[in-house]
Amino acid sequence: MAKPFKRLLLTGAAGNLGKVLRPRLAQWADVVRLSDIVSITPANSGEEVVQCDLSDKAAVNQLLDGVDAVLHFGGISTENTFEAILKANIQGTYNIYEAAHLHGVRRIVFASSNHAVGFYEQNQFIDAFAPTRPDGMYGLSKVFGEQLGRYYYDRAGIETVCIRIGSSYPEPANPRMMASWLSYDDLQEALRCSLFTRRVGFTVLFGTSDNPVKWWDNKHASHLGFHPHDSSVRFLHLFPESGAYPDPDDPMVRYVGGTFVTTGPIYE
Ligand SMILES: NC(=O)c1ccc[n+]([C@@H]2O[C@H](COP(=O)([O-])OP(=O)(O)OC[C@H]3O[C@@H](n4cnc5c(N)ncnc54)[C@H](O)[C@@H]3O)[C@@H](O)[C@H]2O)c1
Repeated sequence: MAKPFKRLLLTGAAGNLGKVLRPRLAQWADVVRLSDIVSITPANSGEEVVQCDLSDKAAVNQLLDGVDAVLHFGGISTENTFEAILKANIQGTYNIYEAAHLHGVRRIVFASSNHAVGFYEQNQFIDAFAPTRPDGMYGLSKVFGEQLGRYYYDRAGIETVCIRIGSSYPEPANPRMMASWLSYDDLQEALRCSLFTRRVGFTVLFGTSDNPVKWWDNKHASHLGFHPHDSSVRFLHLFPESGAYPDPDDPMVRYVGGTFVTTGPIYE
């Protein structure tokens, strides 16, 4: 049977999520083009490997040649200096959109982050229309990436889904992640909905599994039909109640972004 895309590009293919996604994308495209700044294990059949720095505009322009849709996961994925984030995430994501426009690419799925709203407190319940509250330079770069998606849709009609990924790991590593956890299967499902919903315009989706504690309301992304199947409830035993009240000012307990709220370079 014909696959929906001729060529799908995944940036950040050598990263944690890139490695998880790589074998899951083959079903959607004749060719999956895998890209990263570091070397990637050689291409299997139905794959192409392109080593490329996202901050290199000419290289990114070539990278988008012949591509139908982009899963943009590449870049710096934790807090760092503004200068480093400027190159990889801000210049890099701009380069992706400019090249997408030049090559007529119609859809981008952007791996945004909970750190775009990391300064909200964990007892607040927000939707995608709530103002962003980035918790550092990394979170600021995700807000910029999201706004690139907004602009390139309004200006050029390129459709974008920004998935504000919570914490996508095999299992939650701490109590905060009990709320933010996104299983790999649910990440794949979020990508499927983002790629194949007929019209997405510009959509922000909070990427979590169906966890018992919820910080985010996905009502503005309901057209995607994303229904997570997993829940962190099966990991409750990992974090037994100690009986002691947690310190309410501990960032891990207070803020959506956890310790990111105190690691931004402004504190250097
Ligand atoms: N894992 C999560 O729970 C999570 C949560 C929120 C957002 N995200 C986002 O999802 C994406 C993937 O996350 P991850 O956990 O796999 O991160 P990761 O750091 O493991 O992977 C990112 C990849 O991007 C590559 N990269 C960095 N700078 C680059 C550049 N200048 N040019 C080209 N490639 C470059 C890195 O080499 C790396 O392989 C990131 O954009 C991250 O911000 C992840």
